[in-house]
Amino acid sequence: MPNSIVILDFGSQYTQLIARRIREQNVFSAIVPFHTPADEIRGMTPRGLILSGGPSSVFEQGAPRCSPEVFRLGVPVLGLCYGLQLMAYELGGRVRPATRREYGRAQLDITSESALLAGLPRTIPVWNSHGDEVEELPQGFRTVGRTANAVAAIEDASRGLYALQFHPEVHHTPDGPRILRNFVFDICQACADWTPASFITETVKRVGERVGDGHAVCALSGGVDSSVAATLVDRALGARLTCIFVDNGVLRKDEFKAILPLLREQLKLNVIGVEASARFLAKLAGVTDPERKRRIIGNEFIRVFEEEALRLGPIEYLVQGTLYPDVIESVSVKGPSATIKSHHNVGGLPADMNLELIEPLRDLFKDEVRRVGRELGLPERILKRQPFPGPGLAIRILGEVTAERLEILREADAVLLEAIRSEGLYDKVWQSFAVLLPVRSVGVMGDQRTYAYTIAIRCVTSEDGMTADWAPLPHELLGRLSNRIVNEVRGVNRVVYDISSKPPSTIEWE
Ligand code: XMP
Repeated sequence: MPNSIVILDFGSQYTQLIARRIREQNVFSAIVPFHTPADEIRGMTPRGLILSGGPSSVFEQGAPRCSPEVFRLGVPVLGLCYGLQLMAYELGGRVRPATRREYGRAQLDITSESALLAGLPRTIPVWNSHGDEVEELPQGFRTVGRTANAVAAIEDASRGLYALQFHPEVHHTPDGPRILRNFVFDICQACADWTPASFITETVKRVGERVGDGHAVCALSGGVDSSVAATLVDRALGARLTCIFVDNGVLRKDEFKAILPLLREQLKLNVIGVEASARFLAKLAGVTDPERKRRIIGNEFIRVFEEEALRLGPIEYLVQGTLYPDVIESVSVKGPSATIKSHHNVGGLPADMNLELIEPLRDLFKDEVRRVGRELGLPERILKRQPFPGPGLAIRILGEVTAERLEILREADAVLLEAIRSEGLYDKVWQSFAVLLPVRSVGVMGDQRTYAYTIAIRCVTSEDGMTADWAPLPHELLGRLSNRIVNEVRGVNRVVYDISSKPPSTIEWE
C-alpha cells in the first residue's frame, strides 16, 4: 500500500503497539514477519520501515534476521531496540551483551542534532528493555543520544537509517509520539491520509471491483465487527449481498430473537435468520477439547453457509468481520507472537470451503472498526456492544457442552449482564460474562446439602483484546451478583470472581 509504514516483526510484545501508534497519526501501517523477502516489501511501496524489538540477541544462533537488502530499499528505516542492534550488527558494527542491562525507566540525553529527535528537550524520560548494547557503530553512523549506560540513538541520515535503543511506542516514553511523528512525516514524508472516511471509500471500491457482478453472503452476528463489515459490503453490492444470522445453539440468552429485528430495522440490511442449534449441539456432543470445539463450530458454520448459498442461488463470496489481531494471533509470524488460540474467524475454517472470503476489516484494530462504524452512521447500540466470540458459550462451558449446562450458563450470564448494564458498567469494560466450571462442590441451601456447579464471573478492561486487566468491580456488586446467581440459577451453588489479567491468562477461559 503506498504511503504506508511497514513494520518488520522480530517478536516484540510491542510490535502491534508500534502499528497502532503510526495509525494514530492517520498513516497506514502493516506488520510483516521479519523474514519477508525484500522484493515483497518493495512491492508494498512503503514510505518507510520500522524494525521492531524482540527477545533475541543478534549473535545467538538462529536469531531472527531480515534480508540485508531491507537497508537498501531506498526508504528510511527505523530500528527499535533489537532493531537497533540488528541494524548495527548487519551493517558492520559490533554488539555485545550489556555490561549493565537496562530495563524500565531511563533518561535519554540528546547529544547531537537529529531529525528524528527534533523538537525535544535535551533530556527526556524513555522506556528501556535491553540486555545487549552497541559497542562499535557501523561506518557512516553517529551517536545522537545516550542513556547512562549505553548508546541509545544512532543514525546515518545520508542513508536514511535511524535507530533507538529504547521504546518510543510505549506509554512510558512520553515523547514517543513526537519521535514517531518526526520519523513518519519529516523523514519518510508520509501524508496523513488514512482516515475512517478514506478507508470506507477505498474498501467499498475494492470490494466492488473484486466481486464485479457476483453475489455474497455475510456472516452477521450483530456484533460490531460483522455489522461494520456487512454495512461496508452492502454499500458496494447492495441487493447482491444477503446477510445470514445463524443461531448456532451457543448464543447468549434471547440473542437470536432480540438482534434479528435490530439488524433489519436499524442497519437496513437484507438479513435472514437460520435456526441451526440442533445440528451444532449434535456435533459438539462429547467434545471437551477447546480447539476441537472451535473447529467443529467453524466447520459447521461454513456448512450452514454453503447450504444457504446454494438455496439463495449462485453465491461466490463469504463476508466475515475478521480483524487484524485475529490475523496476527492466528496466522502467527514464525517465532514472534506465537499462536495462542485458533480464532474461529480465521483458523477454524474448513480447507475445502466453496466460498471465497471477503474480509474488509482484516487490517483494522477494534477501536478503528468502531470509528469506521461511526463514520458509516451505525447506531451506538451496535457500536458499543461488547465482543462475543464466534464459538460463543461453547468456550465458556469448560468440558462438554450439554443442553443442561447451556441453560445454566445462559441464565447466570443474563443475571450478570443485566447487573453490569444497570450499574452503567457495560460500556466501561471490554467484556463481562459468566463461565461455567465443570467442577461441582458442596453447598447448603435451606438446610439441604447441595452438590452443584460453580460460575466464574469474568469482567475485563482492555484497549484491543490483546492485553487485558481484570476489572476491580465493587465488592458490594460482587456480593449481590453471587447472591442472585445462586438464588436464581438452578444448578449453581458457588460463584467466584476471576482476578487474572492477560497475559498471563487469556480473556476467555478456553
Ligand atoms: P482471548 O481469550 O484470546 O480473547 O484473550 C481475545 C478476544 O478474542 C475473543 N475470542 C474469540 N473470538 N473466535 C472469535 O471470534 C474465537 O475463537 C475467539 N476466542 C477468543 C475474546 O472474546 C476476546 O474478546
